Amino acid sequence: MKIDIKGLFPYELIEPNWRLWSFVAVLAAGFWALLAYPMEAFAGYIDPFYSPTVLIVPLPGAFRLTCYAYRKDYHRHLFKHPLGCANPDRGDGTERKYTGERSAVFQLENFHRYFLYAGIAILPFFYFDFYQSLAYSGTLRLGSIVLLANALLLSGWTLSCHAFRHIVGGNMNCYSCAFGGGLRKSVYDKQSWLNKHHEALAWISLLTIVFADLFLRGVAAGFPDPTLLRL
Ligand code: FES
Repeated sequence: MKIDIKGLFPYELIEPNWRLWSFVAVLAAGFWALLAYPMEAFAGYIDPFYSPTVLIVPLPGAFRLTCYAYRKDYHRHLFKHPLGCANPDRGDGTERKYTGERSAVFQLENFHRYFLYAGIAILPFFYFDFYQSLAYSGTLRLGSIVLLANALLLSGWTLSCHAFRHIVGGNMNCYSCAFGGGLRKSVYDKQSWLNKHHEALAWISLLTIVFADLFLRGVAAGFPDPTLLRL
């Protein structure tokens, strides 16, 4: 009996695709490294990947993985489907046709609006870690600046989210008639400005969090962490 495995799994998972599988390998190696080489708090510093605990990483991780900025890239460059709307070749074939947002992958991605709440809930921890690093030594060290930059960029990325834009100002025809009126409109305008830079913030904040982790691991291993200011 011939089993049609192509009908059972998403096409991307069975089609030989070195880009997709190398990405999956990098992701798996990253998670393995975070669990295998945990970073304990030291000298007032808490590694952002462990704030508040590495066990909650999957939730903000899901928020990041379903972000529109990355979706565009992995659909076009990893899954190779669907390709850009303006592209005359949409990447459709007999095995995979673009079916709107009905496929399992798209349905999962639509949970992004709920993962946003996990992304927002975790933000205060990064600011607390910055404060903790100051309170521990009574000085401003380079490591504290790295933690602050990380907190600000993560906030910028989270608050510029398209789903957050919808929460702030979507589904509304008249601001002056709605609760919060002018204030809400002004928040919406500011968020719209931030939203224009969402893709850049997505990539920069991703690099910053990895940099902060490596920086703190370096300091723990003996790299210099100069004091910039006595408080
Ligand atoms: Fe990127 Fe929501 S769209 S975080």
